[in-house]
Amino acid sequence: MRKPLIAGNWKMNTTVDEAVALVYKMIESLDKIRNVEKVICPPFISLAALAERIKDSPIKLGAQNMYFEGKGAYTGEISPLMLDDLCQFVIIGHSERRQYFNETDEIINNKVKAALKYGIKPILCVGEKLEGNEAGKTAKIVSQQLGSALADVDSLGGTVIAYEPVWAIGTGRSATGEQANETIGLIRLKITSLYDEEVAQNVRLLYGGSVTDENIAEFIKQTEIDGALVGGASLKAEQFISIVKQTAEISGS
Ligand code: 13P
Repeated sequence: MRKPLIAGNWKMNTTVDEAVALVYKMIESLDKIRNVEKVICPPFISLAALAERIKDSPIKLGAQNMYFEGKGAYTGEISPLMLDDLCQFVIIGHSERRQYFNETDEIINNKVKAALKYGIKPILCVGEKLEGNEAGKTAKIVSQQLGSALADVDSLGGTVIAYEPVWAIGTGRSATGEQANETIGLIRLKITSLYDEEVAQNVRLLYGGSVTDENIAEFIKQTEIDGALVGGASLKAEQFISIVKQTAEISGS
C-alpha cells in the first residue's frame, strides 16, 4: 500500500513570521490526520524556524530546491548537507526552475543524485508545456524527462514523482482526473521499464497544477494517483487542511 502524500509548495511566498503563523494555523488539524503524509515546502529561510515548531508533529518539511554539491565556492546556493538536518524532502526540477533558472536535464539529474546521496527524498517534477500537450506529445516528453532525471540512479530511495503539466500550474485550469491518471499511469510504466514492477508499485506519484479543495477528490479517486503537490491552495490554511482531510477520507486506510 502506498501512503498518500500531500505536499504544499509555498514557492516564493511568506516571510519567516508569516510562515510560522501559517503553520500554527494548520498544525493542530493536520496532526489529527494520520493516514496521509503531509509535507510543507516553505522558502529556505523559514525551514529552521518551522523545523523547531513542528518537531513533535508528524508534518514533514521539504525544501523547494538545492544545489548538487555538498559545500564550496557556490555563492548564494544551498547544499544538501545544510538541508539534511532540517528537512526530509526536496522539490527538484520544478517547471519554474526549468523555465526561469535554466535548469537542464543534466542539472536535475545531478540534484536527484545528490539528494539521494545525502538521504533527502526528491520530489521530482515532470510535465509538458501547453504546446507539447496540444501536439499530443505528453507521454514522450514526460518519458524523456524521467529518463534524464533518473539516469544512473540505481535506487529510487523514497523518491516521489510529481506530474505537473506546465499549462495547469497557477492557471486555475487543472488537468481532469482522467487526464492526470492516464499520464501518471504512463509514469508508473516508465518506472517499471527503468527499474522493475516492485519499484513501480511502491513509488508515489502525485498530480500538481491548480489543485484546490474543490477538485482534489477527482484526483485522489484515481487508481494511479497517490497524492498532490499543491501550490496556491497550500498558502490558505483552511484549504490545505481540507485537501489533506479529503485525501484521508477517500483513501480510507
Ligand atoms: P498551483 O497549485 O498554484 O497551480 O501550483 C502548482 C505547483 O506548481 C506546485 O508545485
